[in-house]
Amino acid sequence: MSVLIKGGLVVTSTGSYTADVYVEGDKIKQIGTNLEVKADEVVAAAGKYVLPGAIDPHTHLAMPFMGTYSQDDFESGTIAAACGGVTSVVDFDLQAKGESLLEAIERKKAIALGKAVIDFSFHPAVTDPRPEVIDELKKAIEEYGTPSFKVFMVYDFRVDDYTMIRLLEETNKYGGLVQVHAENVYMIQRMNEIFAEEGNLSPWYHAKSRANIAEEEAIERAGKMVEMTGSRIYIVHLSSLEGLRKVKKFRDRGIDVFAETCPQYLTLTEERYKEPDWNGAKYVMSPPLRSQNSLDELWRGLRGGDLQTVATDHCPFSFKGRKDMNGKDDYKVIPNGAPGIETLLMLLHTEGVVRGRITKERMVDVLSTGTARMFGLAEKGEVIVGKDADIVVFDPEQKFTITQSRLHMNVDYTPWEGWEMTGMPSVVYSRGKRVAEWSGDRMKFVGEIGRGKFVKREPFEGF
Ligand code: URP
Ligand code: ZN
Ligand code: ZN
Repeated sequence: MSVLIKGGLVVTSTGSYTADVYVEGDKIKQIGTNLEVKADEVVAAAGKYVLPGAIDPHTHLAMPFMGTYSQDDFESGTIAAACGGVTSVVDFDLQAKGESLLEAIERKKAIALGKAVIDFSFHPAVTDPRPEVIDELKKAIEEYGTPSFKVFMVYDFRVDDYTMIRLLEETNKYGGLVQVHAENVYMIQRMNEIFAEEGNLSPWYHAKSRANIAEEEAIERAGKMVEMTGSRIYIVHLSSLEGLRKVKKFRDRGIDVFAETCPQYLTLTEERYKEPDWNGAKYVMSPPLRSQNSLDELWRGLRGGDLQTVATDHCPFSFKGRKDMNGKDDYKVIPNGAPGIETLLMLLHTEGVVRGRITKERMVDVLSTGTARMFGLAEKGEVIVGKDADIVVFDPEQKFTITQSRLHMNVDYTPWEGWEMTGMPSVVYSRGKRVAEWSGDRMKFVGEIGRGKFVKREPFEGF
């Protein structure tokens, strides 16, 4: 199978130029002007962008959480991803008690293979840090192809500071990267007690119980552990102005504290928790949505380089049946998380590029090129000869109104219902195969169930 994409604007993280892109099999074979090659499929791309497919390094597919499972499995979740222009996901693989990291990887691989429509990898999430698990990190980095490891400072599967220090030491030896959900669990616990005593239990108090200071303090502590060990860390779903300032402070001192943010923190504010009819439950996620100040500062951080990536934290629970499965009387029992895998690229383009907050080149960096570098996806993230042909032919003028019924995620709402988008994929390729295309007023999946493969990643090489 061969594809010739003619006359599009190839967007890279450092600049853009008009060219033809020729794909043969899984790979990008040639890039040049007026290429004289025959192809099975020719795409006229004048006026369109040719982007590397987005990489979502923060998804929770088919993950057990808060007494239920995140609702998208590897089939529905990756179909939605493909329809949004995401061509790889790195999903969290929560270690079960007593399991080795390899067992956790093999278990989740079995869940994903035969279902995923795009390529995938895993970040093992260390929840049972027995000595033999710490010893296994070297193998996970060098042999299993999973060089990044998630730890949580909150939830009942959190790890303590000692474990974080040990993980930082070990990963530093072999080229691994620790990722952390940074919130101070005791600050949250105390706020929960106070709100319970006061009878303040609506979704608004979810946000108030997890104040900015809880994120700020946890990032400060994690950064100090990095300073102590000389290692590096990646803060997932950074949400607050105060958290960002901490990251910047460490980075200014040459301490490798990297961070991602998510479209929800770049586009929505805490006012959402006040929506009537318990609608605020739709936005119950951790960390919570913040103020406009934080939102504005996150865009500045993204533009200026203090934030390196944008990911979705896709963890969907339907408003009816899941968000309310434990009743509506207490924010603490609402499953945490929201859908977003399909709306990542369109939101970054509309709210970021079209509104002049970031350039299209920076968008490519934070969604693809930088993400591939951060997580060792050596074959992904750039439209250059030799890389996997994970390509989005993107129409920067195409309008789309976000409507749940036109999306593919297995959930009954989207946080961006009714938002007007400018710029949508025309065609999406995963390793040279067409997986999604614009059709009428929405994206349509045209790929093959189960074609996605597990990708072994390379150790961290610096950023
Ligand atoms: O609320 C969230 N973010 N749910 C998913 C789990 C996590 O903390 O990333
Ligand atoms: Zn988290
Ligand atoms: Zn998450």
